[in-house]
Amino acid sequence: MIKIKVPATSANLGPGYDSFGLALNLFNIYEFSQKKDDQFNISIKDSNNKIVNFKKEDNLILKTLLTMKEYYPDQIETKGLKIKVDLNYPLDRGLGSSANAIIGTLCGINEIFNLELNNKKILDLALQIEGHPDNIVPALLGGFTISQVEKRQLNYEKFPVSKKINILLFIPNLEIKTKNARKIIGTKIDINAASQNIANASLVTAGFIKNDLDLIKKGSKDYIHQKKRLSLNNKLNMFFNEISKMIEIPFFLSGSGSTIIFLSKKDFTEKEEILKMKAKDLGIVNYLIETQVNNQGIIINKVGD
Ligand code: HSE
Repeated sequence: MIKIKVPATSANLGPGYDSFGLALNLFNIYEFSQKKDDQFNISIKDSNNKIVNFKKEDNLILKTLLTMKEYYPDQIETKGLKIKVDLNYPLDRGLGSSANAIIGTLCGINEIFNLELNNKKILDLALQIEGHPDNIVPALLGGFTISQVEKRQLNYEKFPVSKKINILLFIPNLEIKTKNARKIIGTKIDINAASQNIANASLVTAGFIKNDLDLIKKGSKDYIHQKKRLSLNNKLNMFFNEISKMIEIPFFLSGSGSTIIFLSKKDFTEKEEILKMKAKDLGIVNYLIETQVNNQGIIINKVGD
C-alpha cells in the first residue's frame, strides 16, 4: 500500500496572484492499494470521520485518475484499485484542497503503477487539470514557491522558509468557490494596480528569502484580487478591514478565501484574542489553526508489501 501526505497550501500571499504559494504543516492523507477483487473504490472522509460524497464531475481524484489513464492506458488498472482519503482541513476555504487532491492522486498512481513520472511531468499533468500553478507547486515541493506559466511551460522556484515563522489560519465557516472568486476579478487591471503589485510582490519575495517579516508586511497589500473577493461577503470584508487597523503582522486572504493567513515570529495568543473578539462582534463562526511552513512537500511511504 502507498501512503501519501500532501500539505495544504496558501496561494497568492497578497500581491502574488496566481504565482506565489506556501506549503503548510497540515496534511490530507491518501492511501492507494490494489486488491485481488475487481472493485474500484474511492472513499473520502472529513476530519470528523464523516464520509464526503462528491458528484462524479466534481471528484478531482477521479478526474485526475481518468486523465492519467488516457495517457497511460496500459499501465493503469482501475480494477481492484482502492483509494482512501482522510481530509484534515475543510474544502473551499482557500487552502489548496483541489491541488492537494490532484497532486496526491498523481503521486499515488505514479507509485502504485510504477509509472516513473518525475516532478516535472507530475506538475505538467497537474497544471493541465488545475489550470493555475500556485497551489500545485508547493503541494508537491513544499516551501515558499514562485510559479510562472509562459507559453504553456511551467517554470518555478522554491525557497525554504525559516522555522521561526509561525502561521495562524483563521478559517471562517464560509465556503468560497474558486471559480466564482475568479470571475469577480474581471479581465482588466489598472496600470497603477499592476505596478504596485509588481513592487509589492518583489518585497514579499525578498522578505521570504531574507526571513524578514517587516519586508513581507510592507509588500503585503494587493491591488488585483483581494478587495474584489472580500466584497463577496460583507462580514468577511468588514472583518478584514477592521483587523487591518488593529494587527501589525502580515496577513493575506489565503488563495481565493475565505481563510485568512497570518505570519509571525512570536506566538499568536494576543492576536487570537483580537480575532476571536472581532469575529464574535461580526457574527462570524470560525476556527483557528496554528501551524508552520512545510519545507519538505509531499511525503510518500510504502506500507507493507
Ligand atoms: N491563484 C488562485 C486564485 C488560487 O486566487 O484564484 C486559488 O486556487
